[in-house]
Amino acid sequence: MNTLMLNGNRSNQLKLAGKLLQAGGLVAIPTETVYGLAANALDEKALRRLFRVKGRPADNPLIVHVSKPEEIAPLVLKIPPAAEKLMDMFWPGPLTLVLPKSDLVPRITTAGMDTVAVRCPAHIVARRVIEEAGVPLAAPSANHSGKPSPTTAVHVKNDFDGMIEAIVDGGQCEVGIESTVLNLSGEHPVLLRPGGVSAESLRAVLADLILYDELPPERRTMRSPGLKHRHYAPKAPLCIVRGTPEEVSDLISKRARHAKVGVLCFNEEEKLYEGIETVAYGNRGDSASLASGLFDALRQLDGINAIQLYTRYPEGQGLMTAVRDRLMRAADYHTITLSETDE
Ligand code: TXA
Ligand code: MG
Repeated sequence: MNTLMLNGNRSNQLKLAGKLLQAGGLVAIPTETVYGLAANALDEKALRRLFRVKGRPADNPLIVHVSKPEEIAPLVLKIPPAAEKLMDMFWPGPLTLVLPKSDLVPRITTAGMDTVAVRCPAHIVARRVIEEAGVPLAAPSANHSGKPSPTTAVHVKNDFDGMIEAIVDGGQCEVGIESTVLNLSGEHPVLLRPGGVSAESLRAVLADLILYDELPPERRTMRSPGLKHRHYAPKAPLCIVRGTPEEVSDLISKRARHAKVGVLCFNEEEKLYEGIETVAYGNRGDSASLASGLFDALRQLDGINAIQLYTRYPEGQGLMTAVRDRLMRAADYHTITLSETDE
C-alpha cells in the first residue's frame, strides 16, 4: 500500500483525508498533543484493522475525537454538570473525559468497557479532518504499541509507511505529550493519566478530584487499561537518577567506564557528560519545553546504540508531573535517588 502524505494546510487534501476515513481507511492526523492514528469510531471493521496495525492489545480502549463539544451527546448516556463545566473551560484542548457510553459506540472502541473516552482536540487540522469525515474518530497515538508517541509526521511515517492510507502533516505537535484522562463516570472524578491539562488546574474546578495513584489499592479498579502496558520504551533500558547535576553526572560517568551509555539531558547539561553521547530534550524547569521535546528525544536515543540509558529526574509540578509520568514509564519505573534536590 502506498501511504499518501497529505498537507494539513490544503483544503482539498483534508477533504481527501475525510473521504478515506469514511471509506473505512486509517489516516494519521496531527493534534496539539501527539499525532493520532484515526479511524471511524463507529466502524468495527476499520477499528479491527486499527488494533492490528498498531499492535494494540484488545483490552486497551480508544479515545473518540469530535470536532465540536456538542458532538459527544450521541456517544454518551449523560453529560454530568462537572463535564459541562470542564468542556466549557478546557475544550477544545488536551483533556479527555471518560463518561458512560451509549449503544452507538461499538464495544471494540471501548474494549468492552461501559464507558467511553471523548475529547475535542484543539488542533485546527484535527477538527477539520473530523468535520470532513462527518463521523467521530477513534485515534490512539500513532505509534506502534509500546513505542514513544509521535510528535511529527516523520515519526508516523517511520512507524507506519505502507501500512495505512494516509498521513496528514500538520507540523510539530505543540504540547508534545498526550491529553489528561479524567474519569467522570464514578462517584468522584479520578485523574487516570496526567497530561496536557494539569491536575492543579482541574482541582480549581473539581474540589473532590482524586489522583489515581492516591487511591487505596482496593479501589484501583478503574484505571485506564493502557497504563498497565509497557510504554514509551526506547530500545535500551532507561534509568532515572534523582539528584544535583554534579551528583548525577558523576554516577553516570563512572558507569560509562564499563559500558556504552547514552544520556537524555536538559539543554546546557550536555557539557557535564564529556565523551558520552547525549540527547537534550528541553530547558531544565521549563515543563512546556521538556514536554514538547521528550518523545522525539526518546526516538533519537534509539539511534545511538547504547546498552544503558540514563536521565536526570525532572523536578516540578503542573505539566512536569506528566513529563515525569512518561519518563517513569519509559524507564519501567527504574530510578536511583542520590538526593531530592534540583540544585
Ligand atoms: O492526546 C491524546 O490523548 C492522544 C491524541 C491522539 O488525542 N491519544 C492518545 O490515545 O493518547 P492512546 O490510545 O494512546 O491513549 C488513550 C488512553 C489509554 O491509556 C486508554 O487506556 C485510556 O486512554 N482510555 C481510553 N478509553 C478509556 C476508558 N473508557 N476508560 C479508561 N481509560 C480509557
Ligand atoms: Mg498511546
